[in-house]
Amino acid sequence: MLIHLKNLTPPDVQNYLQHAIAPRPIAFASTIDKAGNVNLSPFSFFNLFSSNPPIVIFSPARRVRDNSTKHSLQNVEEVREVVINIVDYDMVQQTSLASCDFPKASNEFVKAGFTEEKATLVIPPMVKESKIKLECKVLEIKPLGTEGGAGILVICEVLCMHIDDSILDADKKIDQAKIQHVARLGGDWYCRVDANNLFKVAKPNTELGIGIDVLPQGIRHSKILTGNHLGQLANVKEMPVVEPSFSDDKLKNIIQYYSINPEDMDLELHAYAAKLLDDGNVHDAWQVLLADEL
Ligand SMILES: Cc1cc2nc3c(=O)[nH]c(=O)nc-3n(C[C@H](O)[C@H](O)[C@H](O)COP(=O)(O)O)c2cc1C
Repeated sequence: MLIHLKNLTPPDVQNYLQHAIAPRPIAFASTIDKAGNVNLSPFSFFNLFSSNPPIVIFSPARRVRDNSTKHSLQNVEEVREVVINIVDYDMVQQTSLASCDFPKASNEFVKAGFTEEKATLVIPPMVKESKIKLECKVLEIKPLGTEGGAGILVICEVLCMHIDDSILDADKKIDQAKIQHVARLGGDWYCRVDANNLFKVAKPNTELGIGIDVLPQGIRHSKILTGNHLGQLANVKEMPVVEPSFSDDKLKNIIQYYSINPEDMDLELHAYAAKLLDDGNVHDAWQVLLADEL
């Protein structure tokens, strides 16, 4: 299916984009107006855009239904400060409750049952229950349009971070498995990041990977190895060679058993290499595949 967004209604454009650009982290933004009325609202049009200077942006959009603007926006126009509280699984239902269109004078800390905690550098209060809070100065407010659905970028400089000790590791860094982030997807869908669905991808940081284009044909056009497997194999910094000292019982068994049937041997060796790659063992996977190439 190919869709041209100009042929869709604004709610349909929003629907396709929000399902496609997902998952999105959630900024739980605490703001205040000149009269001292506090507001607390979630925004998933939010991300980190720079670390030096440290810049995050969230976007309270004009409402699609009536083109009105959000209280959070009105507040940061009056008092150019915000606390962005990061939302984790323990907070998600109350956070959703805070997104109701409560009247301007009502405080979502109270409506959604969160505790106000005094910030150190800015006036809006922090959400005590949040395990990471960013005290921010608003640098710029940039409207992206004038119709309903138009985003309005609130560009913020992060002045300081509060991090709950319970999510730190021994080196005082955030332990990714300890903060159970939630993120917004399309419609009512959310996802929860926890130790069961986290995985690592080795970063080709300082060394260049050899690239998929130089993989031997038999590997590159394997019936078994997937794009992820080829990505792992091609991320080595130089083409591996057969190591005479490499010894593996399963490899020996496959070669012995399938010696009269090279096609089946191929499939078996690739399946074994795939398993090794799934376990993160790129070195042994290469040795198994090189044995096949001999
Ligand atoms: C998880 C979540 C994410 C949301 N993200 C956005 C967003 O990025 N932009 C937006 O305009 N509204 C978003 N909303 C809706 C706003 O939170 C809602 O309109 C807001 O609370 C309005 O409050 P206010 O007028 O008090 O600022 C989101 C709602 C939820 C529950």
